[in-house]
Amino acid sequence: MANDKVSIHGAWASRWVFILAATGSAVGLGNIWKFPYMTGMYGGGAFVVMYLFCIALVGLPIMLAETLIGRRGRQSSVNTMRSLALEAGASKHWSIAALMGMIAALLVLSFYSVVAGWALDYILSMGRGDFAGIDAAGAGAAFGSLTDDPWRLTLWHSLFMLLTAVVIGKGVVAGLERSLRVMMPLLFVLLLVLLGYSFTTGHFQEGFNFLFHFDPSKVQDGILAAMGHAFFTLSVGVGAIMVYGAYMPKKASIGATVLAVGLLDTLVALTAGMALFPIVFAAGLEPGGGPGLMFVTLPIAFGNVAFGQVMGLIFFVLVAVAAWSSSISMLEPAVAYFVEKTGRSRAKVTAVLALLCWLVGMGTVLSFNLWAQAKFFVFAEDGFHLLQWGAEGGKTFFDSIDYLTSRILLPLGGLAFALFAGWMLGREAVRDELAMRSPHLFKLTLWLMRVVAPVGVLIVFIAELIK
Ligand code: PHE
Repeated sequence: MANDKVSIHGAWASRWVFILAATGSAVGLGNIWKFPYMTGMYGGGAFVVMYLFCIALVGLPIMLAETLIGRRGRQSSVNTMRSLALEAGASKHWSIAALMGMIAALLVLSFYSVVAGWALDYILSMGRGDFAGIDAAGAGAAFGSLTDDPWRLTLWHSLFMLLTAVVIGKGVVAGLERSLRVMMPLLFVLLLVLLGYSFTTGHFQEGFNFLFHFDPSKVQDGILAAMGHAFFTLSVGVGAIMVYGAYMPKKASIGATVLAVGLLDTLVALTAGMALFPIVFAAGLEPGGGPGLMFVTLPIAFGNVAFGQVMGLIFFVLVAVAAWSSSISMLEPAVAYFVEKTGRSRAKVTAVLALLCWLVGMGTVLSFNLWAQAKFFVFAEDGFHLLQWGAEGGKTFFDSIDYLTSRILLPLGGLAFALFAGWMLGREAVRDELAMRSPHLFKLTLWLMRVVAPVGVLIVFIAELIK
């Protein structure tokens, strides 16, 4: 059963542009900022091993499922799921998974924009030479003074959201393709330069061991985090890859393409880890430092090497660009959906949605300063509180949104997409989309999508419940 639908939103020129766009979406703050600090928080090697397993057995099959669903449906994620479900004689309520994913993507964007804003601020500081000769204490204080200042955070958050909206408003294909061709390889080169610097710190071995030493006693702590992060870093579970798949040419091989995106993403994360941890140890910092890790360690490195200021400046520009090429993919599913639903112009729809995300993002801005004491989801002795001021436990606004999306919404969305592609779409439709030459490879792929990935998500959820 062939399929020749086309998308009303446009199409990528070739499969390479899909790779560029999907890698642009996947490689972002998740790799350079989140992966190293989570590895630090969850005990190093144990986290890394689980993360790699989750990518291979769960993340990639789900990415494959999303891409093929998207390319078959050629609409926004919600309408694609609805029409494919109806075609296959399944319930149209499958589209609820895409709707949930779309909302999750907007929630991710709300805090992503704030953190990307930190990178923008650091571009300025690097350019001014603020970090020249800085030590660990100075770098910590500099980061603290940024997060303590709601106005400064708001400024950068607003600017980043605006940048995201401008690209999406114009259409993805026209704006970013050309700059990404230059920026993504450059990001790689700079990571390698940073890796080179971390070699010279004399702590490379220590960093390497931390990253790859497997300590089984730490597996329990980090398994759900590793699963959540696998979803986050591959951009799956929200329909972002699904809409990108809708713009993919029919002839491109989905399997090889998805594998390439996954490998690139993993490579960037591991390189970032190997570059950062030696610097962390050399500066006598704690690897478990949390979200500030990159923003404290990198200035130390750049502040103390020849040409460090220029390199640092370029590096934070590239972090911002990597974040930018990811943030657009968070907005696209909702924009595509509301353009289809309301028939209004892309620009108008984009403006409204970006404003909404910006507003939610203000909660994250304030969670670092004025609302630092506002704790959500507090389990205290006297029972559960949704919100309690100054509570011991609980999560700040930023932590709550991060937790809700990475740990719950993304895995659930991914589970639904894998089940839909594996069991509802029909074997023939999947075979037609994947167009794999080897029947064995096709069987293996189908099995990963139908059984392994869904079971993987469920096991991790259950493990967390009985912990
Ligand atoms: N994958 C992106 C990163 O690693 C984040 C992302 C999540 C993008 C969800 C799109 C959707 O930074």
